[in-house]
Amino acid sequence: MRDANRLTGVARAPGTKTASWALERLPIDDPVLDTLGEADRRALADRWQARAANELATSTAFAEVYRGLVGLGAPFELLAGAATAVEDELRHARICQHVAGRYAGRDLGEPSARPTPPPRFEGASERQARVLHVVLHTCLNEGFAVAYLGACLERATAPLAHAAVQEIMRDEIDHARLGWAFLAGAAPADRTLVEQALPELVRFAKHIWLADDRYPETLPAGHGCLGRDELRPLVAEALQDLVLPGFEHVGVSTMGVRAEARP
Ligand SMILES: [Fe+2]
Ligand SMILES: [Fe+2]
Repeated sequence: MRDANRLTGVARAPGTKTASWALERLPIDDPVLDTLGEADRRALADRWQARAANELATSTAFAEVYRGLVGLGAPFELLAGAATAVEDELRHARICQHVAGRYAGRDLGEPSARPTPPPRFEGASERQARVLHVVLHTCLNEGFAVAYLGACLERATAPLAHAAVQEIMRDEIDHARLGWAFLAGAAPADRTLVEQALPELVRFAKHIWLADDRYPETLPAGHGCLGRDELRPLVAEALQDLVLPGFEHVGVSTMGVRAEARP
């Protein structure tokens, strides 16, 4: 893979952040949370719990990314980044479940989730599907996650939610970087493949983010979550300002996908 050796900042030593380390860093007191009424607390507990399940499912998507990268002969640094990401997402699930429990006012136990399905792209060979899955999951999905969490963080006034989102977002930035590093080192044929598939990948990634019917239309502001009404413009903006420029930066033309950038 081209320029693979110069890719830095992708991998972090596994195990350097444990779930208990992350949970211990969260604030114990939250006066903003304490002022909420019962219905708001329940709505936010549900959203944080759904987020925990989503994070757990995302750990399996990264397991698939790791598997794909091994199959593609990716350099160790990318493999280490993907392996670390599996652990990161598991930790995120525990953080979100902990926060959900604080909003619920009781221990909610452990989250459960269905593993994400293996990558299937119509008309693509197994190798091509691996390439497209890495790009879909890292550049697009994690790119949207960074933008989403950035907006959640900016609007978070509750200390617990603010600290939890901040902790998770740091890792999601690394996860998106993994995809850009992968593309920067990809063979010309793989970049062409991604360029041709980009409109479909963008449609699919937007669908993942916008078709989740567990999102309530609105949520109490300041608690690290956005309602569906805020999500749609955010995804459009992230595509336009963050994700598509990322593709351009690594030399993948986005000409064919600009129509998708409209809300
Ligand atoms: Fe995550
Ligand atoms: Fe992530």
